[in-house]
Amino acid sequence: MERVSEDNPETQTFLLGETIGKRRLSSAPWPWILTGLLAVSTMTLSVLLFSSAADCKARCTMQNQRSDFPAARSAIEYHEVMFTGNPIHKEDGTIYVPHPGAIRYVGTPSPEVDKAWANLTKTRDPMITEAEAKELWPDNYHDYWHHQKGGYVVGFDMFHTLHCLNQLRKAFHPEYYPVVPSAIGDAHRDHCIDHIRQQIMCSGDMTAYGTRYQPSVNHNYADSDVVHICRNFDKLRAWTTDRHNKGVKPKVSS
Ligand SMILES: *[C@@H]1O[C@H](CO)[C@@H](O)[C@H](O)[C@H]1NC(C)=O
Repeated sequence: MERVSEDNPETQTFLLGETIGKRRLSSAPWPWILTGLLAVSTMTLSVLLFSSAADCKARCTMQNQRSDFPAARSAIEYHEVMFTGNPIHKEDGTIYVPHPGAIRYVGTPSPEVDKAWANLTKTRDPMITEAEAKELWPDNYHDYWHHQKGGYVVGFDMFHTLHCLNQLRKAFHPEYYPVVPSAIGDAHRDHCIDHIRQQIMCSGDMTAYGTRYQPSVNHNYADSDVVHICRNFDKLRAWTTDRHNKGVKPKVSS
């Protein structure tokens, strides 16, 4: 035993193993009973874990984030969404979209397309109470006082990013949406591209998609129309619209 030292864990392990081995030999059926119990409980635990994982739909695997606005967390719900809009090559080599979404957000600009986008973002930026402003920005909530609106206004990033994306879409159709060329225009465009980049990287969506062979072009292309686990947009918009319509204003003046 003198050779066992803290500097020599290998020896220690070896000796401990030998001791346990001897004990096992001497105490007849108990190890087998214990091993049996352990096996049964491990199996039971696995079955429980497995079945609860099977029962647990998307909801259980996702959670609210600390950065989500506290009052909006109750409106966060997850569901499965089949993406649409993946283009494929027809036999003559031309491209078409077999599964466009129910609402058209892209393509030739029209009042309908504009309405579809407006529907996504028209009631963003609601007012919050002073208590909520204090909770969000404990050290400098006064900085966020909106001088024109007379309250604390918040934006929620999803709606801001959607608005940015729509601005980019419009930039592709200058004949329909005349662009005022200015430094602000370029700065806004770059801000939008960079914001969308960060938003996508932040969400880190690792949903997998495959590629399909498209014989007319002798090439495999991504098939991105797959099911994603998403936050329920309709619920978040309804919550935001409700907040927006209530027009909460702090009881203090600043
Ligand atoms: C606006 O959104 C609602 C809810 O998702 C939808 O039912 C409606 O068709 C949308 N309208 C337009 C013009 O996109």
